[in-house]
Amino acid sequence: MSALSGRKILVGVSGGIAAYKTAQLIRLLRGADAEVRVVMTRAAEQFITPMTLQALSGQSVRQSLFDPAHEAAMGHIELARWADLILVAPASADCMARMAAGMADDLLTTICLASEVPIALAPAMNQGMWRNRATAQNVRTLTQRDVRMWGPAEGDQACGETGPGRMLEPEQLLHLVQESFSRGSAAGLRVLLTAGPTREPIDPVRYLSNRSSGKMGFALARAFSAQGAEVTLISGPVTLATPAGIRRIDVETALEMEAAVMARVENCDIFIGCAAVADYRPALAVDQKIKKLTQRRSIELVRNPDILATVAARPKPPFTVGFAAETERPVEYAQEKRKAKGVDMIAANLVAAAEGGFERDENSLIVLWEGGRRDLPMTDKPHLARLLVTQVLLNYEKKHSTEDT
Ligand code: PMT
Repeated sequence: MSALSGRKILVGVSGGIAAYKTAQLIRLLRGADAEVRVVMTRAAEQFITPMTLQALSGQSVRQSLFDPAHEAAMGHIELARWADLILVAPASADCMARMAAGMADDLLTTICLASEVPIALAPAMNQGMWRNRATAQNVRTLTQRDVRMWGPAEGDQACGETGPGRMLEPEQLLHLVQESFSRGSAAGLRVLLTAGPTREPIDPVRYLSNRSSGKMGFALARAFSAQGAEVTLISGPVTLATPAGIRRIDVETALEMEAAVMARVENCDIFIGCAAVADYRPALAVDQKIKKLTQRRSIELVRNPDILATVAARPKPPFTVGFAAETERPVEYAQEKRKAKGVDMIAANLVAAAEGGFERDENSLIVLWEGGRRDLPMTDKPHLARLLVTQVLLNYEKKHSTEDT
Protein backbone atom coordinates (compact mmCIF):
# COMPACT_ATOMS: atom_id res chain seq x y z
CA MET A 1 0.00 0.00 0.00
CA SER A 2 1.29 3.46 -0.89
CA ALA A 3 2.23 5.88 1.92
CA LEU A 4 -0.37 8.21 0.42
CA SER A 5 -3.17 5.70 0.17
CA GLY A 6 -6.35 7.51 1.22
CA ARG A 7 -4.49 10.71 2.10
CA LYS A 8 -6.33 13.87 1.18
CA ILE A 9 -4.15 16.48 -0.45
CA LEU A 10 -5.49 19.91 -1.25
CA VAL A 11 -3.34 21.37 -4.00
CA GLY A 12 -3.46 25.17 -4.17
CA VAL A 13 -2.30 26.74 -7.40
CA SER A 14 -1.33 30.40 -7.48
CA GLY A 15 -0.20 32.47 -10.45
CA GLY A 16 3.15 31.48 -11.90
CA ILE A 17 4.56 29.91 -15.02
CA ALA A 18 5.50 26.85 -12.92
CA ALA A 19 1.77 26.02 -12.74
CA TYR A 20 2.30 23.79 -15.78
CA LYS A 21 4.36 21.49 -13.54
CA THR A 22 1.44 21.23 -11.11
CA ALA A 23 -0.45 19.18 -13.68
CA GLN A 24 2.25 16.51 -13.47
CA LEU A 25 2.36 16.79 -9.65
CA ILE A 26 -1.37 16.04 -9.48
CA ARG A 27 -0.90 13.00 -11.75
CA LEU A 28 1.89 11.72 -9.50
CA LEU A 29 -0.13 12.26 -6.33
CA ARG A 30 -3.09 10.37 -7.74
CA GLY A 31 -0.77 7.66 -9.02
CA ALA A 32 0.37 7.27 -5.40
CA ASP A 33 -3.28 6.75 -4.36
CA ALA A 34 -3.80 10.16 -2.79
CA GLU A 35 -7.15 11.91 -3.10
CA VAL A 36 -6.55 15.30 -4.66
CA ARG A 37 -8.66 18.44 -4.79
CA VAL A 38 -7.53 21.60 -6.47
CA VAL A 39 -8.10 25.24 -5.59
CA MET A 40 -6.83 27.86 -8.05
CA THR A 41 -6.34 31.57 -7.60
CA ARG A 42 -7.55 33.96 -10.28
CA ALA A 43 -3.97 34.57 -11.42
CA ALA A 44 -3.33 30.82 -11.77
CA GLU A 45 -5.96 30.66 -14.51
CA GLN A 46 -3.68 32.82 -16.67
CA PHE A 47 -1.15 29.97 -16.69
CA ILE A 48 -3.17 26.74 -16.73
CA THR A 49 -6.84 25.98 -17.28
CA PRO A 50 -9.14 24.65 -14.57
CA MET A 51 -10.30 22.06 -17.14
CA THR A 52 -6.80 20.51 -17.29
CA LEU A 53 -6.54 20.24 -13.51
CA GLN A 54 -10.10 18.96 -13.23
CA ALA A 55 -9.34 16.17 -15.70
CA LEU A 56 -6.17 15.21 -13.82
CA SER A 57 -7.57 15.42 -10.29
CA GLY A 58 -10.89 13.80 -11.19
CA GLN A 59 -12.67 16.49 -9.15
CA SER A 60 -14.16 19.85 -10.02
CA VAL A 61 -11.64 22.61 -9.47
CA ARG A 62 -12.61 25.31 -6.97
CA GLN A 63 -11.82 28.91 -7.83
CA SER A 64 -14.17 31.32 -6.13
CA LEU A 65 -14.90 32.09 -2.53
CA PHE A 66 -18.30 33.30 -3.63
CA ASP A 67 -19.42 30.29 -5.66
CA PRO A 68 -23.09 29.82 -4.66
CA ALA A 69 -23.03 26.13 -5.65
CA HIS A 70 -20.49 25.38 -2.92
CA GLU A 71 -20.65 28.21 -0.47
CA ALA A 72 -24.27 27.68 0.50
CA ALA A 73 -22.84 24.86 2.63
CA MET A 74 -19.69 26.79 3.67
CA GLY A 75 -17.60 24.90 1.11
CA HIS A 76 -14.34 26.62 2.05
CA ILE A 77 -14.60 25.41 5.64
CA GLU A 78 -15.52 21.94 4.44
CA LEU A 79 -12.41 21.92 2.23
CA ALA A 80 -10.22 23.26 5.05
CA ARG A 81 -11.38 20.34 7.22
CA TRP A 82 -11.27 17.76 4.43
CA ALA A 83 -7.54 18.01 3.77
CA ASP A 84 -4.76 16.10 5.54
CA LEU A 85 -2.21 18.39 3.91
CA ILE A 86 -2.40 21.60 1.92
CA LEU A 87 0.30 22.04 -0.70
CA VAL A 88 0.43 25.34 -2.57
CA ALA A 89 2.39 24.76 -5.79
CA PRO A 90 3.40 27.10 -7.20
CA ALA A 91 3.32 29.57 -4.34
CA SER A 92 3.83 33.01 -5.83
CA ALA A 93 5.42 35.94 -3.94
CA ASP A 94 2.00 37.59 -3.83
CA CYS A 95 0.26 34.50 -2.46
CA MET A 96 2.92 34.09 0.24
CA ALA A 97 2.66 37.78 1.19
CA ARG A 98 -1.10 37.49 1.59
CA MET A 99 -0.73 34.34 3.68
CA ALA A 100 1.96 35.94 5.85
CA ALA A 101 -0.37 38.88 6.48
CA GLY A 102 -3.14 36.47 7.50
CA MET A 103 -5.35 37.67 4.68
CA ALA A 104 -8.35 35.76 3.42
CA ASP A 105 -9.15 37.62 0.23
CA ASP A 106 -9.65 34.61 -2.03
CA LEU A 107 -10.64 30.98 -1.66
CA LEU A 108 -7.09 29.62 -1.28
CA THR A 109 -5.93 32.04 1.42
CA THR A 110 -9.24 31.64 3.24
CA ILE A 111 -8.83 27.87 3.33
CA CYS A 112 -5.23 28.19 4.52
CA LEU A 113 -6.31 30.53 7.31
CA ALA A 114 -9.21 28.31 8.38
CA SER A 115 -7.32 25.03 8.25
CA GLU A 116 -5.52 23.31 11.11
CA VAL A 117 -3.65 20.81 8.96
CA PRO A 118 -0.01 21.17 7.86
CA ILE A 119 0.56 23.61 5.02
CA ALA A 120 3.50 23.33 2.62
CA LEU A 121 4.49 25.92 0.05
CA ALA A 122 6.49 25.31 -3.12
CA PRO A 123 7.67 28.85 -3.91
CA ALA A 124 8.15 29.83 -7.55
CA MET A 125 9.12 33.32 -8.64
CA ASN A 126 11.77 35.47 -10.22
CA GLN A 127 15.08 35.29 -8.33
CA GLY A 128 14.97 39.02 -7.53
CA MET A 129 11.52 38.64 -6.01
CA TRP A 130 12.69 35.67 -3.95
CA ARG A 131 15.73 37.60 -2.71
CA ASN A 132 13.74 40.72 -1.91
CA ARG A 133 13.68 41.49 1.80
CA ALA A 134 9.90 41.66 1.79
CA THR A 135 9.69 38.06 0.56
CA ALA A 136 12.44 36.97 2.97
CA GLN A 137 10.47 38.50 5.83
CA ASN A 138 7.28 36.74 4.69
CA VAL A 139 9.11 33.41 4.48
CA ARG A 140 10.37 33.91 8.03
CA THR A 141 6.90 34.77 9.28
CA LEU A 142 5.38 31.74 7.61
CA THR A 143 8.02 29.27 8.77
CA GLN A 144 7.67 30.58 12.33
CA ARG A 145 4.05 29.53 12.02
CA ASP A 146 5.21 26.06 10.97
CA VAL A 147 4.33 26.50 7.31
CA ARG A 148 6.75 24.22 5.47
CA MET A 149 8.86 25.78 2.72
CA TRP A 150 9.63 23.20 0.03
CA GLY A 151 12.16 24.89 -2.23
CA PRO A 152 12.74 26.89 -4.27
CA ALA A 153 15.52 25.39 -6.38
CA GLU A 154 18.18 27.41 -8.15
CA GLY A 155 18.67 27.46 -11.89
CA ASP A 156 17.54 28.96 -15.17
CA GLN A 157 14.28 30.83 -14.92
CA ALA A 158 11.51 31.39 -17.43
CA CYS A 159 12.32 35.12 -17.43
CA GLY A 160 15.82 34.38 -18.68
CA GLU A 161 17.57 35.03 -15.36
CA THR A 162 19.40 32.51 -13.23
CA GLY A 163 19.12 32.09 -9.46
CA PRO A 164 16.84 30.82 -6.67
CA GLY A 165 13.12 30.81 -7.41
CA ARG A 166 12.43 27.71 -9.49
CA MET A 167 9.62 25.50 -8.20
CA LEU A 168 10.84 22.04 -7.16
CA GLU A 169 10.18 19.32 -9.73
CA PRO A 170 6.91 17.35 -9.32
CA GLU A 171 8.86 14.19 -8.39
CA GLN A 172 10.66 16.06 -5.61
CA LEU A 173 7.38 17.46 -4.30
CA LEU A 174 5.78 14.01 -4.38
CA HIS A 175 8.69 12.69 -2.34
CA LEU A 176 8.27 15.48 0.24
CA VAL A 177 4.55 14.81 0.51
CA GLN A 178 5.24 11.10 1.04
CA GLU A 179 7.90 11.89 3.61
CA SER A 180 5.60 14.20 5.53
CA PHE A 181 3.23 11.27 6.05
CA SER A 182 5.84 8.79 7.12
CA ARG A 183 9.25 9.59 8.66
CA GLY A 184 9.03 12.00 11.59
CA SER A 185 5.26 11.82 11.68
CA ALA A 186 3.00 9.83 13.96
CA ALA A 187 1.82 7.34 11.34
CA GLY A 188 1.31 3.94 12.97
CA LEU A 189 1.61 5.29 16.52
CA ARG A 190 -1.12 4.72 19.08
CA VAL A 191 -1.62 7.74 21.30
CA LEU A 192 -3.67 7.73 24.49
CA LEU A 193 -4.63 11.13 25.86
CA THR A 194 -6.54 12.49 28.82
CA ALA A 195 -8.24 15.88 28.67
CA GLY A 196 -10.62 18.10 30.59
CA PRO A 197 -11.44 18.16 34.29
CA THR A 198 -12.71 15.44 36.57
CA ARG A 199 -15.77 15.85 38.77
CA GLU A 200 -15.71 14.42 42.26
CA PRO A 201 -19.24 14.06 43.66
CA ILE A 202 -20.12 15.44 47.07
CA ASP A 203 -23.79 14.55 46.87
CA PRO A 204 -26.16 13.88 43.91
CA VAL A 205 -26.14 17.56 42.84
CA ARG A 206 -22.73 18.93 43.89
CA TYR A 207 -19.19 18.14 42.96
CA LEU A 208 -15.56 19.30 43.25
CA SER A 209 -13.93 20.19 39.96
CA ASN A 210 -11.73 22.76 38.22
CA ARG A 211 -11.75 25.15 35.28
CA SER A 212 -10.29 22.87 32.60
CA SER A 213 -12.28 23.22 29.36
CA GLY A 214 -10.55 20.37 27.51
CA LYS A 215 -9.42 22.73 24.74
CA MET A 216 -5.71 21.97 25.16
CA GLY A 217 -6.19 18.20 25.27
CA PHE A 218 -8.63 18.14 22.35
CA ALA A 219 -6.23 20.28 20.28
CA LEU A 220 -3.49 17.75 21.04
CA ALA A 221 -5.72 14.86 20.00
CA ARG A 222 -6.46 16.62 16.72
CA ALA A 223 -2.78 17.44 16.13
CA PHE A 224 -1.67 13.83 16.71
CA SER A 225 -4.44 12.55 14.48
CA ALA A 226 -3.44 14.99 11.71
CA GLN A 227 0.04 13.44 11.93
CA GLY A 228 -1.43 10.01 11.26
CA ALA A 229 -1.60 8.66 14.84
CA GLU A 230 -4.41 6.45 16.06
CA VAL A 231 -5.76 8.55 18.91
CA THR A 232 -7.87 7.56 21.90
CA LEU A 233 -9.07 10.49 23.96
CA ILE A 234 -10.31 9.97 27.50
CA SER A 235 -12.21 13.07 28.40
CA GLY A 236 -13.70 14.48 31.55
CA PRO A 237 -16.96 16.45 31.26
CA VAL A 238 -16.48 19.13 28.60
CA THR A 239 -18.70 20.75 25.98
CA LEU A 240 -16.38 20.16 23.00
CA ALA A 241 -17.23 18.20 19.86
CA THR A 242 -15.20 15.06 19.20
CA PRO A 243 -12.51 15.73 16.58
CA ALA A 244 -12.97 13.66 13.42
CA GLY A 245 -11.29 10.27 13.38
CA ILE A 246 -10.66 10.11 17.13
CA ARG A 247 -11.99 7.51 19.55
CA ARG A 248 -13.42 9.27 22.59
CA ILE A 249 -14.29 7.82 25.95
CA ASP A 250 -16.18 10.06 28.36
CA VAL A 251 -15.60 9.76 32.08
CA GLU A 252 -16.53 11.86 35.06
CA THR A 253 -14.40 11.08 38.10
CA ALA A 254 -10.66 10.55 38.58
CA LEU A 255 -11.31 6.91 39.45
CA GLU A 256 -13.26 6.44 36.20
CA MET A 257 -10.49 8.18 34.27
CA GLU A 258 -7.89 5.91 35.89
CA ALA A 259 -9.90 2.80 34.98
CA ALA A 260 -10.36 3.97 31.38
CA VAL A 261 -6.63 4.70 31.03
CA MET A 262 -5.49 1.45 32.60
CA ALA A 263 -7.80 -0.56 30.34
CA ARG A 264 -6.05 0.87 27.26
CA VAL A 265 -2.51 1.82 28.24
CA GLU A 266 -1.07 -1.60 27.45
CA ASN A 267 -1.57 -0.99 23.73
CA CYS A 268 -0.34 2.57 23.42
CA ASP A 269 2.99 4.01 22.31
CA ILE A 270 2.56 7.49 23.75
CA PHE A 271 0.54 8.57 26.78
CA ILE A 272 -0.26 12.24 27.38
CA GLY A 273 -1.81 13.37 30.64
CA CYS A 274 -3.38 16.72 29.82
CA ALA A 275 -6.42 16.29 32.06
CA ALA A 276 -6.71 18.36 35.19
CA VAL A 277 -7.34 15.37 37.43
CA ALA A 278 -8.65 16.28 40.87
CA ASP A 279 -5.98 15.41 43.42
CA TYR A 280 -8.63 14.72 46.06
CA ARG A 281 -12.20 13.44 46.21
CA PRO A 282 -14.73 13.54 49.03
CA ALA A 283 -14.19 10.50 51.24
CA LEU A 284 -17.91 9.91 51.15
CA ALA A 285 -20.34 10.86 48.37
CA VAL A 286 -23.71 10.81 50.08
CA ASP A 287 -26.85 9.56 48.34
CA GLN A 288 -29.13 12.45 49.32
CA LYS A 289 -28.68 16.19 48.86
CA ILE A 290 -26.89 17.65 51.87
CA LYS A 291 -29.16 19.97 53.88
CA LYS A 292 -27.90 23.29 55.20
CA LEU A 293 -28.48 22.50 58.84
CA THR A 294 -25.28 23.91 60.31
CA GLN A 295 -23.28 27.14 59.93
CA ARG A 296 -20.09 25.28 59.19
CA ARG A 297 -19.51 22.05 57.47
CA SER A 298 -16.36 20.30 56.38
CA ILE A 299 -15.85 17.66 53.77
CA GLU A 300 -13.22 15.05 54.34
CA LEU A 301 -11.11 14.48 51.26
CA VAL A 302 -9.01 11.51 50.26
CA ARG A 303 -6.24 11.38 47.67
CA ASN A 304 -7.06 10.24 44.18
CA PRO A 305 -4.64 7.89 42.43
CA ASP A 306 -2.02 9.65 40.32
CA ILE A 307 -2.83 8.36 36.84
CA LEU A 308 0.26 9.77 35.16
CA ALA A 309 2.67 8.39 37.77
CA THR A 310 0.94 4.99 37.65
CA VAL A 311 1.34 4.85 33.85
CA ALA A 312 5.00 5.87 34.04
CA ALA A 313 5.70 3.25 36.72
CA ARG A 314 4.50 0.34 34.58
CA PRO A 315 7.10 -2.33 33.79
CA LYS A 316 6.98 -1.37 30.11
CA PRO A 317 5.62 2.16 30.10
CA PRO A 318 4.67 4.02 26.95
CA PHE A 319 6.50 7.26 26.18
CA THR A 320 4.88 9.39 28.86
CA VAL A 321 4.18 13.12 28.76
CA GLY A 322 2.66 15.06 31.61
CA PHE A 323 1.47 18.61 32.07
CA ALA A 324 2.13 20.82 35.06
CA ALA A 325 -0.36 23.55 35.91
CA GLU A 326 1.50 26.04 38.09
CA THR A 327 0.65 29.42 39.54
CA GLU A 328 4.32 30.26 40.24
CA ARG A 329 7.89 28.99 39.54
CA PRO A 330 6.72 26.77 36.66
CA VAL A 331 10.14 25.40 35.71
CA GLU A 332 11.15 24.45 39.24
CA TYR A 333 7.83 22.83 40.14
CA ALA A 334 7.43 21.12 36.78
CA GLN A 335 10.94 19.63 37.02
CA GLU A 336 10.05 18.30 40.46
CA LYS A 337 6.87 16.73 39.05
CA ARG A 338 8.73 15.29 36.06
CA LYS A 339 11.20 13.53 38.33
CA ALA A 340 8.71 12.50 41.01
CA LYS A 341 6.29 11.02 38.48
CA GLY A 342 9.06 9.51 36.34
CA VAL A 343 7.75 10.86 33.02
CA ASP A 344 9.73 11.39 29.82
CA MET A 345 8.57 14.97 29.28
CA ILE A 346 6.50 17.56 31.06
CA ALA A 347 4.81 20.67 29.67
CA ALA A 348 4.50 23.45 32.22
CA ASN A 349 1.92 26.20 31.97
CA LEU A 350 1.28 29.18 34.18
CA VAL A 351 -2.38 29.03 35.08
CA ALA A 352 -2.69 32.17 37.18
CA ALA A 353 -1.58 34.55 34.44
CA ALA A 354 -3.98 37.00 32.76
CA GLU A 355 -3.69 35.01 29.56
CA GLY A 356 -3.17 31.33 28.84
CA GLY A 357 -3.87 28.22 30.91
CA PHE A 358 -7.34 27.05 31.85
CA GLU A 359 -10.38 27.79 29.65
CA ARG A 360 -8.71 30.29 27.33
CA ASP A 361 -8.16 29.84 23.63
CA GLU A 362 -4.45 30.61 23.93
CA ASN A 363 -1.67 29.18 26.02
CA SER A 364 2.11 28.95 26.23
CA LEU A 365 4.24 26.06 27.49
CA ILE A 366 7.70 25.35 28.80
CA VAL A 367 8.51 21.80 27.78
CA LEU A 368 11.11 20.02 29.89
CA TRP A 369 12.86 16.69 29.61
CA GLU A 370 16.10 15.21 30.95
CA GLY A 371 18.77 17.63 29.76
CA GLY A 372 16.45 19.64 27.50
CA ARG A 373 13.98 22.48 27.40
CA ARG A 374 11.86 24.18 24.74
CA ASP A 375 9.76 27.27 25.27
CA LEU A 376 6.63 27.33 23.15
CA PRO A 377 5.20 30.84 22.66
CA MET A 378 1.79 32.19 23.63
CA THR A 379 -0.40 31.18 20.70
CA ASP A 380 -3.76 29.57 20.00
CA LYS A 381 -4.11 26.08 21.45
CA PRO A 382 -4.38 24.26 18.08
CA HIS A 383 -1.10 25.83 16.96
CA LEU A 384 0.54 25.22 20.32
CA ALA A 385 -0.59 21.59 20.16
CA ARG A 386 1.07 21.15 16.76
CA LEU A 387 4.34 22.56 18.14
CA LEU A 388 4.16 20.27 21.16
CA VAL A 389 3.38 17.22 19.02
CA THR A 390 6.46 17.92 16.89
CA GLN A 391 8.64 18.04 20.02
CA VAL A 392 7.05 14.92 21.52
CA LEU A 393 7.65 12.98 18.30
CA LEU A 394 11.26 14.12 18.13
CA ASN A 395 11.90 13.00 21.72
CA TYR A 396 9.95 9.78 21.17
CA GLU A 397 12.05 8.92 18.11
CA LYS A 398 15.26 9.83 19.91
CA LYS A 399 14.41 7.58 22.86
CA HIS A 400 13.57 4.70 20.55
CA SER A 401 16.64 5.10 18.37
CA THR A 402 18.81 5.07 21.54
CA GLU A 403 17.01 1.97 22.82
CA ASP A 404 17.49 0.22 19.45
CA THR A 405 21.27 0.80 19.38
O1 PMT B 1 -8.42 22.25 29.44
P1 PMT B 1 -7.98 23.69 29.16
O2 PMT B 1 -9.00 24.68 29.64
O3 PMT B 1 -7.59 23.89 27.72
O4 PMT B 1 -6.68 23.98 30.05
C1 PMT B 1 -5.51 23.28 29.80
C2 PMT B 1 -4.82 22.84 31.12
C3 PMT B 1 -4.38 24.08 31.88
C4 PMT B 1 -5.76 22.02 31.98
C5 PMT B 1 -3.60 21.95 30.69
O5 PMT B 1 -2.72 22.71 29.90
C6 PMT B 1 -2.87 21.40 31.91
O6 PMT B 1 -2.02 22.04 32.51
N1 PMT B 1 -3.22 20.14 32.33
C7 PMT B 1 -2.72 19.52 33.54
C8 PMT B 1 -3.45 20.08 34.74
C9 PMT B 1 -3.02 19.45 36.05
O7 PMT B 1 -3.76 18.73 36.63
O8 PMT B 1 -1.78 19.72 36.40
P2 PMT B 1 -1.07 19.14 37.77
O9 PMT B 1 0.18 19.94 37.87
O10 PMT B 1 -2.02 19.18 38.90
O11 PMT B 1 -0.78 17.63 37.42
C10 PMT B 1 0.45 17.19 36.87
C11 PMT B 1 0.21 16.02 35.93
O12 PMT B 1 -0.25 14.89 36.65
C12 PMT B 1 -0.80 16.27 34.83
O13 PMT B 1 -0.30 15.65 33.64
C13 PMT B 1 -2.05 15.57 35.32
O14 PMT B 1 -2.85 15.08 34.22
C14 PMT B 1 -1.46 14.41 36.11
N2 PMT B 1 -2.29 13.96 37.24
C15 PMT B 1 -2.54 14.78 38.29
C16 PMT B 1 -3.26 14.31 39.37
C17 PMT B 1 -3.74 12.97 39.34
N3 PMT B 1 -4.44 12.50 40.34
N4 PMT B 1 -3.48 12.19 38.29
C18 PMT B 1 -2.76 12.65 37.24
O15 PMT B 1 -2.53 11.92 36.27
